[in-house]
Amino acid sequence: MGSFKEGLEDVVVSTSEICFIDGREGRLLYRGYDVDDLVQHAPFEEVVYLLWHGALPNLKERDAHVKALSSTANRRLHPKLIAMLRQLPKKTTPMEVLRTGVSALSAFDPDAADNSREATVRKAIRITAQMPTLVAAWERLRRGKPPVAPNPKLGLAANFLYMLTGKKPTDLAAKTVDVALTLHADHEFNASTFAARVTAATLSDIHSAIVSGIGALKGPLHGGANEQVMLMVEQIKTPERAEAWIKKALADKARVMGFGHRVYRVEDPRAKHLRRLATELGQQAGKPHYVEILNTVARVVSEEKKIYPNVDLYSGAAYAAMGIPTDQFTPIFAISRVVGWAAHVLEQHAHNRLIRPRAEYTGPTRKTYVPIDQR
Ligand code: CMC
Repeated sequence: MGSFKEGLEDVVVSTSEICFIDGREGRLLYRGYDVDDLVQHAPFEEVVYLLWHGALPNLKERDAHVKALSSTANRRLHPKLIAMLRQLPKKTTPMEVLRTGVSALSAFDPDAADNSREATVRKAIRITAQMPTLVAAWERLRRGKPPVAPNPKLGLAANFLYMLTGKKPTDLAAKTVDVALTLHADHEFNASTFAARVTAATLSDIHSAIVSGIGALKGPLHGGANEQVMLMVEQIKTPERAEAWIKKALADKARVMGFGHRVYRVEDPRAKHLRRLATELGQQAGKPHYVEILNTVARVVSEEKKIYPNVDLYSGAAYAAMGIPTDQFTPIFAISRVVGWAAHVLEQHAHNRLIRPRAEYTGPTRKTYVPIDQR
């Protein structure tokens, strides 16, 4: 076998029409539209339609799509699933609950056994509508509070915050989550999407593919990084301590979460939107120090290592300013990225070939079996 780079770096696995990343210019396109344009003009629900169907919806299509994503029938969890959540130890992390919960959702899905495109779109709608309910329900249950029923009049972002807190969110909080959902919705063949596509390519179903995606997203090198960034901010404590703290971390050769990317060679184009919203929310909540700390860390890491902020650097500061617990940051990433996973499952099923790479074997080849009493 020939030479290769570890981690499938720069390996093209397939063609895709969903998402384009220009890592040198720092541009991210969904179906040809720049995310900078989408976050300004399109609510998250339109982005969902765009990613799944390949074009922005017209008025009639938008209304039907929003209705399907917002209906109580699609958002609610089966009472047996809520009962199942109540059985889990309270210390179970939200990502573990999400992984288990999405797997269990398939048991209640009327289309579970149908892998046609039509049924997979219906399942994608239900999973996208149910995941925020699952995340919010666990937040309530682990605090000993009853889950809040979804409100079909609210968009996905506002309804999520409403179910989490029991209160209607401010416009800025709802807008911030809506923009964050758009920014996290897809990112080409990232690790979790690739995991979802590998599962889909065995002709397995969308619930299984999404569970694969959740498992891959959970790790600190991927979606779990946003949680780690906040733990770093908590360790740094004050903006005055940030410069010395990060210089020491770099001198100790630490991996700094929220920085670096396999594809981007410049700042991740998503970071600036989250920096702006986190700054605004932090000022409103009287917690400007989160972003101040991160700005100092970003300046030092960029200057000293030429490694730039990625999407995970500022998202947590925005969520923390809203009072969302740190271990819910990665689940928020997941309730958005599920849309990309679903788009990729649909694309994989439409032009499927099993994904099955090779390993370059480096182990021994001529060993002879030794009976157990001679070992
Ligand atoms: N802090 C310190 N050094 C870094 C970092 C970082 N965050 N990222 C890369 N480097 C250095 C690394 O030490 C290596 O240096 P050297 O060649 O001297 O050994 C060089 O840059 C290349 O790093 P790599 O790990 O080979 O790069 P990769 O493409 O395999 O990793 C990455 C990409 C995202 C895993 C990595 O940048 C990283 O660990 N970042 C921190 C975790 C993080 O923020 N993840 C979120 C990624 S974006 C959103 C998402 O996918 O969820």
